[in-house]
Amino acid sequence: MKICITGGAGMIGSALLRKLSNKGYEIIVIDNLWRGKVENINTIENWDFNNNFHNIDLSDTNNEEKLLKILESTDVLIHLADIVAGIGYVFNNQYEIFKINNTINTNIFSICSKLNIKKILYAGTACSFPKNLQLSLTSILKESQLFPAEPESAYGWSKLIGTMELQYMAEKYKLNVSTLMLHNVYGPYCDTDPKRSQVIPSIIRKIIELEPNGQLDVWGSGNQGRAFLHVDDVANAFQLALEKDDIPQIIQIGPNHCTSIKHLVNVLINDVIKKPINVHFDTTKPEGDLGRCADYTIANESLGWSPQLDLKEGLFDTYNWIKSKIN
Ligand SMILES: NC(=O)c1ccc[n+]([C@@H]2O[C@H](COP(=O)([O-])OP(=O)(O)OC[C@H]3O[C@@H](n4cnc5c(N)ncnc54)[C@H](O)[C@@H]3O)[C@@H](O)[C@H]2O)c1
Repeated sequence: MKICITGGAGMIGSALLRKLSNKGYEIIVIDNLWRGKVENINTIENWDFNNNFHNIDLSDTNNEEKLLKILESTDVLIHLADIVAGIGYVFNNQYEIFKINNTINTNIFSICSKLNIKKILYAGTACSFPKNLQLSLTSILKESQLFPAEPESAYGWSKLIGTMELQYMAEKYKLNVSTLMLHNVYGPYCDTDPKRSQVIPSIIRKIIELEPNGQLDVWGSGNQGRAFLHVDDVANAFQLALEKDDIPQIIQIGPNHCTSIKHLVNVLINDVIKKPINVHFDTTKPEGDLGRCADYTIANESLGWSPQLDLKEGLFDTYNWIKSKIN
């Protein structure tokens, strides 16, 4: 079976590539390295980087001919390539993110409609849920609550529109498609760039770089929470979705509990990194949704999926990777 992973040089894509390349799948990766990195994937065992990596911008419509050729005999497309970043980047670049993600999705889905692709799996996001359902750490969301839609950000809207476009295309061309709606993913091979990184890598990096007893500035009150999900759990969900038939078109992937940023910072400072640090919560900065987590019943019933990695274990793993990278 031939699989194409778009965005395969990124955090989730490279974890999935590592997992699937050991299972004997033939895999190609398309990524323009906007946030992905060659070093995330060029030494993966049982995978030939030189012949199977394509540095192509999926938001450029001029690449259609090239992409039709590359994707010619692909059986399954796992579509992860979109602009995703930390909250500061997302709220400061709303129009660009909306435009680029919609262009990427329209391009790649249109190309798929011209080919004999058997299955498409798309990475959706919990940011697409209505903002008025994300008001507390105990908001447990179900797929049926996606509509009426009112995501908080252009990023959430773009991913929801991608999900809808995929479904309309699948209906017309009789394709098998599913969107896995992911909560907050973290883990090794994450982006640590201070401008674009998400909350866990951003805080870990800041703590590593601070002197003992230095001040850590954290955006928002710290009372806001996220349902953190280790990247290996996400790779596992995509593998299950790849290998199972007749799965629902929307499946939420995330834990059924939410961790406040205050608690996250405490665990990082006291249990994982173990460095004396003073914390300042900067309430002049945006904090995004107040809280949400997943009712993952559909994932469990259709894929047999549940989260396996506990947060502390996942944070150790992520910290060790970031530390080795910075060193
Ligand atoms: N990280 C999370 O918390 C999270 C949560 C929900 C959903 N998702 C979704 O999962 C997918 C993967 O996210 P990730 O966390 O691995 O992020 P990532 O940024 O590491 O991966 C996305 C990849 O897409 C590539 N890309 C971006 N624009 C492109 C373009 N125009 N052409 C080709 N490639 C392009 C990037 O270079 C990157 O390698 C994204 O679709 C994202 O929206 C992520």
